[in-house]
Amino acid sequence: MITTFAVAGYRSLVDLVVPLAPLTVVSGANGTGKTSLYRALRLLAAAGAGELVGAVAREGGLASALWAGPERTAGPGAQGTVRSRPVSLRLGVGSAEYGYLVELGQPQVDPARSFFLHDPEIKREQVFMGAAPRPSAVFIDRTRGAARVRDAGWRAVPQALGPGQSVLRDLDDAGTLADTLRLRTRMAEWRCYDHFRTDRAAPARQAQVGTRTRWLSDDGADLAAVWATAIERGQDGPLAGAVAEAFPGSRVEITVTHGVFELLLHQPGLLRPFSAAELSDGTLRYLLLCAALLPAEPPPLIVLNEPEGSLHAELLAPLGALIRRAAERTQVLVVTHAPTLRAALTGAAAGAGAAGSAAPGAEIELESTGWGTRVRGQGPLDGPPWNWPAR
Ligand SMILES: Nc1ncnc2c1ncn2[C@@H]1O[C@H](COP(=O)(O)OP(=O)(O)OP(=O)(O)O)[C@@H](O)[C@H]1O
Ligand SMILES: [Mg+2]
Repeated sequence: MITTFAVAGYRSLVDLVVPLAPLTVVSGANGTGKTSLYRALRLLAAAGAGELVGAVAREGGLASALWAGPERTAGPGAQGTVRSRPVSLRLGVGSAEYGYLVELGQPQVDPARSFFLHDPEIKREQVFMGAAPRPSAVFIDRTRGAARVRDAGWRAVPQALGPGQSVLRDLDDAGTLADTLRLRTRMAEWRCYDHFRTDRAAPARQAQVGTRTRWLSDDGADLAAVWATAIERGQDGPLAGAVAEAFPGSRVEITVTHGVFELLLHQPGLLRPFSAAELSDGTLRYLLLCAALLPAEPPPLIVLNEPEGSLHAELLAPLGALIRRAAERTQVLVVTHAPTLRAALTGAAAGAGAAGSAAPGAEIELESTGWGTRVRGQGPLDGPPWNWPAR
């Protein structure tokens, strides 16, 4: 389980260290940094897949992703101060098992000679045991092109790492290969879901060729295949329960014609089932959330950004119960600005009957300060321990 998530220099997240619980609910007023937190986690998942540089470049490069405010905390003279230190975007994660942190900086290229001005460079990386990068826990330490690893003592790795190469994917060192593989596989398995498309041409509305599918894709195209996988493995009970709770008397059926999978919803009072193409936006989105949260075997971490979007108010309580049920099996983080959903997830009583033994979610409320986002009520020494290494 992830216990700590740390981010610095990313959009409004100047310097944030957040404790994560089995179920964490992130809330806050508009513009306080909720979506930034979601996107920072998604960048770390991309780092696990070895795609961090590309993911930042697609956000418009470091120039757009970096904190655009002053270097020091707001006060007289903070506006317009000239930067004295190199700007960087830092992301880190700690768990009971391993932790990882990465620091990205501006590319050191001549603008007249390079096509790749949006490619950030990896300046620093550390892999460590446990929840925080204490010096004694670090066992892979990379500074620019040079990496060293620790077994009995520190030893330098002869390989020179390129500015876009990561120790997670590219370090050629037999002694640490098993650790980096395990860590990056875990991180790459995190599933981050944002707004699902439900327009007429949305992938989730089309019948699709299906194969056994562990987890729903970002666009929901494999909804029917994920559902069928759960049915075939005898794990569709929770899915059926979640559908019946939101739409009493309704049930999902999966049909396969020449390998093409289609999801149908049988609803009381209708003579024929509706296909995904015919469902309302809210109904389809709820079914997508069911498949995202209750696949046959859950991913290690599920992150949802504002899942309440376009759902009818009546569906928020069932959605809360659905999320709490998912959190009984795996770690879940939900970013929301719907008070009803927040209450359903964090209230000890709300949803408890429907969600069985699920513990209430831990709440993190973000607030804006003159110097970016902070966690409400978290003093300078309250957050989980975390120290960024010097560059
Ligand atoms: N590079 C940047 N530097 C500083 N601040 C930024 C940067 N990019 C975005 N912001 C600001 O960060 C704040 C947080 O944005 P974010 O999208 O995370 O808010 P949110 O909490 O999700 O809001 P909403 O509830 O409206 O969705 C916004 O005020 C935004 O203008
Ligand atoms: Mg937002």
